[in-house]
Amino acid sequence: NVVIGSVRTVIGWVPERWLPGGSPDPLIGRHGAVGRQTAQLDGPLKVRGEAKFAAEVAVEGLCYGALVNSTITRGRIARLDTRAAEAAPGVVAVLTHRNMPRMDPVPLMSVTNIGAAGNSGLPIMQDDQVRYNGQVIAFVVAQTQQEADHAATLIEIDYEELPARTRFDDAKPTARTPASILVEKNDVSVGNAEQELRQAAYRVDNVYHTPGHNHNAIELHGLTVIWEGNKLTVHDATQAIGPTANTLAKLFGIKREDVRVLSPFVGGGFGVKAFWDHQVVAVAAARLAGRPVRLMLSREAVYRMIGGRSPTEQRVAIAADAEGRFTALVHTGYSVMPPYAVAPEQYTLGSRSLYKSKTCRFLQQHLDLDVVPNTYMRAPGEAVGSFALESAVDELAHQMGIDPIELRRRNEPEVHPLSGTPFSQRALTEAYRRGAERFGWDRRNPEPGARREGEWLIGMGCATGSFPYVRMPMGSARITLSQDGRATIASAAQDMGMGTSTVQSQHAADRLGLPLDAITFELGDSDLPVGPVAGGSAQTVSLIAAVAAAAEKLVGELLRLAGNDSPLAGLRAGEVRMIDGALVGIEDPSRRESYVSILSRSGRPSVSVTAAGAAPLEMFKFAMISTSAIFCELRVSSVTGEVRLDRLLGSFDCGTILNPRTASGQFRGGMIMGIGLALSEETLFDQRSGRIMNATLADYHVPAHLDVPDIDVIWNGIPDPRTPLGARGIGEISITGVGAAIANAVFNATGKRVRDLPLTPDKLL
Ligand code: MOS
Repeated sequence: NVVIGSVRTVIGWVPERWLPGGSPDPLIGRHGAVGRQTAQLDGPLKVRGEAKFAAEVAVEGLCYGALVNSTITRGRIARLDTRAAEAAPGVVAVLTHRNMPRMDPVPLMSVTNIGAAGNSGLPIMQDDQVRYNGQVIAFVVAQTQQEADHAATLIEIDYEELPARTRFDDAKPTARTPASILVEKNDVSVGNAEQELRQAAYRVDNVYHTPGHNHNAIELHGLTVIWEGNKLTVHDATQAIGPTANTLAKLFGIKREDVRVLSPFVGGGFGVKAFWDHQVVAVAAARLAGRPVRLMLSREAVYRMIGGRSPTEQRVAIAADAEGRFTALVHTGYSVMPPYAVAPEQYTLGSRSLYKSKTCRFLQQHLDLDVVPNTYMRAPGEAVGSFALESAVDELAHQMGIDPIELRRRNEPEVHPLSGTPFSQRALTEAYRRGAERFGWDRRNPEPGARREGEWLIGMGCATGSFPYVRMPMGSARITLSQDGRATIASAAQDMGMGTSTVQSQHAADRLGLPLDAITFELGDSDLPVGPVAGGSAQTVSLIAAVAAAAEKLVGELLRLAGNDSPLAGLRAGEVRMIDGALVGIEDPSRRESYVSILSRSGRPSVSVTAAGAAPLEMFKFAMISTSAIFCELRVSSVTGEVRLDRLLGSFDCGTILNPRTASGQFRGGMIMGIGLALSEETLFDQRSGRIMNATLADYHVPAHLDVPDIDVIWNGIPDPRTPLGARGIGEISITGVGAAIANAVFNATGKRVRDLPLTPDKLL
């Protein structure tokens, strides 16, 4: 009796809140494109198969690549015989550490190096050393994919193995300190939390485990590489077009303007489509072979040589007084991050902002193991951190006999608990109120194990999710307005399926005062003005800021072109608006001239301006954090331990929602990832060999339709007064809180508290 993920009417969109004059941005809302449930504009291209992805682009003389990955974890290549492979039919080149061009280390992505894309500081086929299980050892290029795959099997390798560090439990913390890519201070204490814990009237103090997770975007990592002399064109599946181009230019010693990265469509990113070894070997091989090369990783290769989410071991301790006010909040733990990786798993970040507490302690320690470098994965940190924190809050509520929503309400902070800075906007309590009402939370029986239907035990749970608002420091856009009354907006941004071009077209239409069908939004090309990276749930608002800045510049340019013969003569930029394809005086709307008229009078076929979004200073003056209340109802079989979700509801406080249709798609997709995190996803390492044992979609279970219940999504829709359009990001928050909501519902159903994900049947018997 499972409902297959139905699409419900989206509620919670309140455009009346903005109008008239209620919008944080008076230009928006007049034309009604923002906020409309516009379907994805490139949807038809994808349905018809006309959208060409990176490994589908047709190129004359194309060759195909096949990788050989190490089967040992640590050691050296003692013997490497490529002769049979080189002599095999169709083979064009075989690349190993012996003929790979010597190159500098890959520039790594970081706050201080935002133009770089690298995820791994390890050398790529530069020596005979093996540093993790699955490392690239050789690359074969042949006339056909089948010939490449066959020749790759003919390469003979003997390894000299060395002992490898592969056990989480034996790993030693490294000296790495940052808490996240943005938060430098990791070890934070206020007061003496351990002492408060010892003397508290109520306390919980437990350890939670989450396993490694692997990325499984529908589109595998792939690229098509074309060299023309020293000019390089790469069709790549990437969330970071500009940084990928910068990184390739640097590695291959060519000018940045001679590299073009094209990525108009990406079949899912979630943090993993940045820069890994496969791009480097394919680009090097194409140069060596003098032929265009295509490489598409196998699903197994993505598991072996592209990083995922680290396992975590987290301690959460909370002490409370008799009224349920927190007197101590401790969140510490361990995750894997070898010194050559770039992505700390920031599982304590949510805990640092969600509750006020008299004392607190936060610390994340990074463990060094011989593994493929871990990386970002949708809501890095918060996705697994919220499982531990929000399970602990539920445990305390149960111990105290307080409703878990009420316990959270009593500890809701007025300002950021650590920095003391005000929140730009925060209405978590309202999200809980609306979510609880719609979900029917009052029907929950707080007594665990009290509801039973035949073999099924039924329970309800809830949990809080959160994700910070981030703005990319880079990000610019070009607007070209032409005499036919159309506008083209261009930025080297990315659309991984979430609807970037759709939402940005909606914004541009309202911003420029043009109908939606007069807008073309170009992205996915590094020759366009530098765009933001699609990461940190930051791209949408960063782009909006860039387009808004360009529109402001465009107004000045149009007024200049309009000149003294225009009804607008003498008006300055701040005195006109862009409405209905014209500049219109604010004081006197009869003073107007259309863009078409201005351009034709000035004899210009088009006018083009480029601008960058303003520096996101508000990020430092305010605590800008989205929150959510997740509700779950499920049943657990008392015979098999199987968990079946009946209902899931997400109530979000994320500022303005720009397109309810694309937004609810993002929310649902993230919540489905949360279901996987809670119930089935787990990367299994053979601890003896360091090799992933379940490197296939058959053995690593991501939710299928039958796992997905009816998912209801609502939002407060309260604009953030400190952000462009009042919007914050929504890509990542949706996965957060889901794991704990499900685990808390399992406890309510069964009385069993599982602190070790995933919640597989064996743990519930
Ligand atoms: Mo994300 S994990 O910033 O794609």
